[in-house]
Amino acid sequence: MLSMSANTSKIPVRIAGTGSYLPAKELTNKDLESIVDTTDEWIFSRTGIRSRRIAAEGENTSDLATEAAKNAMEQAGITADELDLIIVATISPDTITPATACYVQHNLGAKSALAFDISAACSGFLYAMEVAQRMISDGNFKNALIIGAEKLSAFTNWDDRNTCVLFGDGAGAAVLTRGDETTGRILSTKIGTDGSQTGILNIPGGGSACPTTVDNADQKLASLAMQGREVFKLAVNAMKRASEAVIEEAGLTAESIKLVVPHQANLRIIDAIADRLTIPNEKVFVNLHKYGNTSAAAVAIALDEAHREGKIERGDNIVLVGFGAGLTWAAAAIQW
Ligand code: COA
Repeated sequence: MLSMSANTSKIPVRIAGTGSYLPAKELTNKDLESIVDTTDEWIFSRTGIRSRRIAAEGENTSDLATEAAKNAMEQAGITADELDLIIVATISPDTITPATACYVQHNLGAKSALAFDISAACSGFLYAMEVAQRMISDGNFKNALIIGAEKLSAFTNWDDRNTCVLFGDGAGAAVLTRGDETTGRILSTKIGTDGSQTGILNIPGGGSACPTTVDNADQKLASLAMQGREVFKLAVNAMKRASEAVIEEAGLTAESIKLVVPHQANLRIIDAIADRLTIPNEKVFVNLHKYGNTSAAAVAIALDEAHREGKIERGDNIVLVGFGAGLTWAAAAIQW
């Protein structure tokens, strides 16, 4: 299933502010050497990751999301009363139900905001952007908070060196609001799904298909599982195609892109995409060495850091692109 929109719609939508939050505790590759049979050299050379953040006990996905949201709202100059929509993208919700967005709504005191979650793994923040953008553009909503937030450490098998070295915790957020002729706008978006590949990247247990029981608890099935090589190949192709589609739909060229903010899973995937899009590496934002793969939070955190570091300025054309379990993929071309 593919969905594409060139946003020539009734009401333009812009990003009014971004925010992020990373838990304080760092877990470095060196630290992991004493947990599983691995080395800093193996992890860094295969992935580009040096460290990741781990949420404190009792610090939930909704808490990370709330802090990132406050940052974004402060930058946007928007109060909780003015929010009418909150979407949280996550695969590590506080609870299966209610949605993590409900906890965030309460934490923020955003009483009049509609709140729900999206489960689209690492593409989740961009799925949320697509949905919020359409809801604002249709004229019924004005100020939306979209958040990617994950506490993946709660869904990691710390005995499995194939996966536990890859993931981390964190949250990123953006406030979307109505634009006008004088502001930037989301130019084009694309989201896609291929449900034939659910088995190559998933959390197999803990859901209704395979509940955690006394008999299977020691198998740690409620943890991320992955066929890394298969995922790698599909990720490069899907992110390349999605990026090209939004660049073309927005009427841009590779040369006119100031910055690409890709999903932060693996530096080799990021380099391969940049190469195939003929975009030089210095125009591609990377922070995965610090945080690892934070799934739905990754693009959102990277966007906020790039923005706060002054790498994105008013009028710049940027591309956001992600890929994840599902399989899902998503991209957006934005004039800031
Ligand atoms: N430390 C040391 N050795 C490890 C290891 C670790 N943390 N993890 C795996 N290995 C070993 C494997 O056991 C294997 O050993 P073997 O040859 O004796 O069986 C060897 O390293 C090679 O494993 P392989 O899976 O072939 O490595 P790779 O080069 O494909 O790299 C990934 C593995 C996971 C880094 C890589 O496939 C990848 O990044 N894939 C994409 C993952 C991704 O982005 N997922 C999220 C998408 S949103």
